[in-house]
Amino acid sequence: MHQIDPALAKELDEQKPATPPGLLSKAEKDRLIERAFLGLYRWYVDRSQKTRNWNPDMDFDWRNFRTDHSRQMNLILEGFFAVEQYVPDYVTTLLRVIRRSHGRSHFHIRWGSEEEKHADLWENTLLFSRYRSPEWIEEYKHVLREQAWELPWDNTMHMSFYTVIQERATQVNYLNTGLIASGKSDDANFAGDADPVLARVAQVIAIDEAAHFNFFMETARLYLYYYPAQALEALHDVITYFAMPAGHLIPNYDRFAELIASSGIYGGREHVRDVLDVALKNLGVNGRRALRQGITRIRQVPTLEGDTMRDTAIFDVLDYQRVEKKIQSLFGRIQAYEKQVGFDEINPTLFVPSGLR
Ligand SMILES: [Fe+2]
Ligand SMILES: [Fe+2]
Repeated sequence: MHQIDPALAKELDEQKPATPPGLLSKAEKDRLIERAFLGLYRWYVDRSQKTRNWNPDMDFDWRNFRTDHSRQMNLILEGFFAVEQYVPDYVTTLLRVIRRSHGRSHFHIRWGSEEEKHADLWENTLLFSRYRSPEWIEEYKHVLREQAWELPWDNTMHMSFYTVIQERATQVNYLNTGLIASGKSDDANFAGDADPVLARVAQVIAIDEAAHFNFFMETARLYLYYYPAQALEALHDVITYFAMPAGHLIPNYDRFAELIASSGIYGGREHVRDVLDVALKNLGVNGRRALRQGITRIRQVPTLEGDTMRDTAIFDVLDYQRVEKKIQSLFGRIQAYEKQVGFDEINPTLFVPSGLR
């Protein structure tokens, strides 16, 4: 069987004359996804304000930040600072793509306001460690911002999967740095890096990153549920070409990447075990191998005539029942939130099954 060009397959899909009985139309699926984005975003803001409303200046004991960290630790903090410096680009580039979606775009602004605090928090670590002078930091910011970060993918489905992986990777970076700062690393190079202030910094940011991961996980699962074949393709693309943001823009990024890899903070092993495998499990995907093999089979089936074969290929890769349960519980969470406010009496968010399975 020859391979079908994914663009052609998508076009054929879109030209299908009618929606098979029991299945939702594209417009209905898009409406459900948008309702879920919006409900989830409202729930998220409430939770974020109640549980993670910290301030990068006032909520940390900066005068007691250690000024004698190892050179490696200082370079790691500098790397984190550099990656988070591109927050204006992270926000504006994707915002242009998702501006028509109320839920997605408003969430993205909220997300940006949280990422902006991360950039400021890491800057404070550089400053109070006395490793870099205020003038040096100022100059470095200019150097970093001379180039702009661009989207690795220009559509919201790919970006949902990209962000799932990226948020998890960032969380793993900060959690492992937190372990070092809590004196729990057995790496002799970091023997003198225990620091309660840094431990708290890493912990507070890691909690934010976990919240981001969870939000994007829900958006990615919505795509997997309502558009399984397209979503699995997007996930496969993202995993195949994934790179951490801004690595190609930051001077000496390779040195930083080697450093975090050799310190056990984030290298190839952590990426596979703690990022990819965790993300795939949460998405309901039966592992990297199943995904790779499933994608090959999905691509071989012409969508116009082969829906059953396509579905079989999808269900081998995806634990669809598990995804459905998660989607149901997401709608349940949104409904509980709306009930608290009173939205349920006027304009409730209702779950509609995809009709697949
Ligand atoms: Fe961040
Ligand atoms: Fe984040």
